[in-house]
Amino acid sequence: MTIIAKGLAGVTVGETAISTVGKAGAGLTYRGYSIQDLARHATFEEVAYLLIYGKLPNVSELNAYQERLAKLRELPPPVCQVLETLPMSTHPMDVLRTGASMIGSLEPEGENGRGAAYVADRLIASMTSMLGYWHRYAHRRQRVDTQSDETTLAGHFLRLMNDAPPIETARRTLDTIFVLYAEHEFNASTFTGRVVTSTLADTYSAVVAAIGALRGPLHGGANEAAMELIASFETPQEAEKSIKHMLDARRLIMGFGHRVYKNGDPRSDIVKELARQLSYESGNTMYFEISESIENVIMREKGLFPNLDFYSATAYHLCGIPTVMFTPLFAVSRTSGWVAHVIEQRDDNSLIRPNADYTGPPAQEFVELQGR
Ligand code: ACO
Repeated sequence: MTIIAKGLAGVTVGETAISTVGKAGAGLTYRGYSIQDLARHATFEEVAYLLIYGKLPNVSELNAYQERLAKLRELPPPVCQVLETLPMSTHPMDVLRTGASMIGSLEPEGENGRGAAYVADRLIASMTSMLGYWHRYAHRRQRVDTQSDETTLAGHFLRLMNDAPPIETARRTLDTIFVLYAEHEFNASTFTGRVVTSTLADTYSAVVAAIGALRGPLHGGANEAAMELIASFETPQEAEKSIKHMLDARRLIMGFGHRVYKNGDPRSDIVKELARQLSYESGNTMYFEISESIENVIMREKGLFPNLDFYSATAYHLCGIPTVMFTPLFAVSRTSGWVAHVIEQRDDNSLIRPNADYTGPPAQEFVELQGR
């Protein structure tokens, strides 16, 4: 009898030199660097360079990389035109999926020397512009200039969204969250990108498919769902009571649990600290207190810990970022990891095509339709 690994849980399907997730003694590292060190000392641009180009940049490489990304932020006019046709009710994940696909048809990989690294840089740089451009057009009918003088992508996004220079604490927080979200081994969206790549498809197709996989609440969409849950309570006491009822009813609480980490997500401690600092600095501590009360009751009742998506919701919120933008920002950052995996998959490719046990009806005789 075949042993079926539902959801591929516990199955090792390949090798990677990009990150260690849940490895004893290593926790989470990107190319050997601990997530704690990267979150404390590196910017997202350094991390994206590390993932895509395989090493940390030196000062001149970093300056050149930041300049390159800054130039690649501008959206081609046909992309702006397409984004303008998307209604205000569109989810910004659909904005990214559409915009990334459109850039892929205007600047195909393989033409004019464009390889996977170009596609990564182009998409990372322009996705924040797509979000900002669409948001301002859909909500205020403004056509914004998608170039800005901001050095970092986090600053660029905040400036486009708010039409004002970013507040430094918010910019730094978003930059650190980008670092935390950048890469995570064979998670559902990255694996989707690797499956697409294994067919020898182009990098844009892999990223567009990965965006789709990220959207669901069991994966990237959990941060948006977590925020909606937190915001539905007015006090920590109300949260505690309700969450207990939800657990008794065997409901899933988004932002908790993890397929690989079983004793805590190392990224959660970092983002929780950011959320704590922002709440106390702003004097707006209610969501943080509600979040802690949810964390405590779920730990006590189920032994489950928050994953990165739970406290990042409160942190984003305190940076003034609209809830619908949480998952798209995950996608912007994770594009660096996705494309690192596209490159790695291509280096040692084999078509990813598993088997399934058939459970349908037995062989049946086909009876042709009469009288058509
Ligand atoms: N809320 C309530 N119960 C949970 C949760 C949760 N968030 N997560 C797991 N459980 C329970 C399950 O119901 C199951 O209980 P049972 O044994 O009584 O049936 C038990 O814990 C084990 O859970 P599994 O489903 O086996 O865990 P799995 O590894 O398949 O799932 C997953 C991991 C999908 C992340 C799950 O924990 C979940 O759905 N969490 C909520 C969604 C979420 O936060 N996703 C973000 C993931 S991290 C990221 O994308 C950055």
